[in-house]
Amino acid sequence: MSAGSTAKITIVSGSSRLEGRVHAVVALAADTATSAGAAVEVVALHELCLPVMIYGDRSQDDLPAVHSIRRSAAWADGFIICTPEYHGNMSGCLKNWFDFLYEELAGKFAGVLAVTGGGGGDMSITAVKTSFAWCHGFTLPYHVAARAPDFDVEGNLVNNLVADRIRRVAYDVVRYAPVLRSTFEAARTLGPGVQAGVAGAHT
Ligand SMILES: Cc1cc2nc3c(=O)[nH]c(=O)nc-3n(C[C@H](O)[C@H](O)[C@H](O)COP(=O)(O)O)c2cc1C
Repeated sequence: MSAGSTAKITIVSGSSRLEGRVHAVVALAADTATSAGAAVEVVALHELCLPVMIYGDRSQDDLPAVHSIRRSAAWADGFIICTPEYHGNMSGCLKNWFDFLYEELAGKFAGVLAVTGGGGGDMSITAVKTSFAWCHGFTLPYHVAARAPDFDVEGNLVNNLVADRIRRVAYDVVRYAPVLRSTFEAARTLGPGVQAGVAGAHT
């Protein structure tokens, strides 16, 4: 694909509950990415009921939920990944999403968002960035945490500074993801040698 074509962005909602604050953040990111010209898919992990990944169990490959997340990840040029902070980490369902993936994330770009009860979100954001990097993906060098006081009682995001920062992430992911993917795909054609860099591991 060329850097000028429509960006394909998958937004991952890492909340495990229907009424979570993560959903307001995901909706804002999706609206902004769409406004920026991207084709957007939202993966709502609380709806998918992914099983816990069992390493080596090939029967899981045939499950509709597993097929769905692998297809949307392979389709995407880039990701906006939103996690609730659970015990200083990403949510279990989001880590499980990562565990089903690897090559689908390689050479892709991601922005990371967190929703916390009151903490700064650094640990959950770092956890997401680390897992993405271990799948050979690249992440935006800044990120956003929305804390409980940034929402009203109905779960609407009411802190405009935080909302603007989420919009900034979405614009940047739409901007950079296609460029990075096309660069990585070109490097893959060089084969497994050192000149292909990290893409050489994915030929
Ligand atoms: C199991 C669990 C662990 C949590 N751990 C943290 C934490 O370490 N730091 C924090 O600030 N909030 C923590 N929280 C609060 C959540 O991050 C907060 O409720 C957030 O809004 C959850 O996202 P959701 O509303 O989309 O479900 C925790 C909540 C749960 C249920």
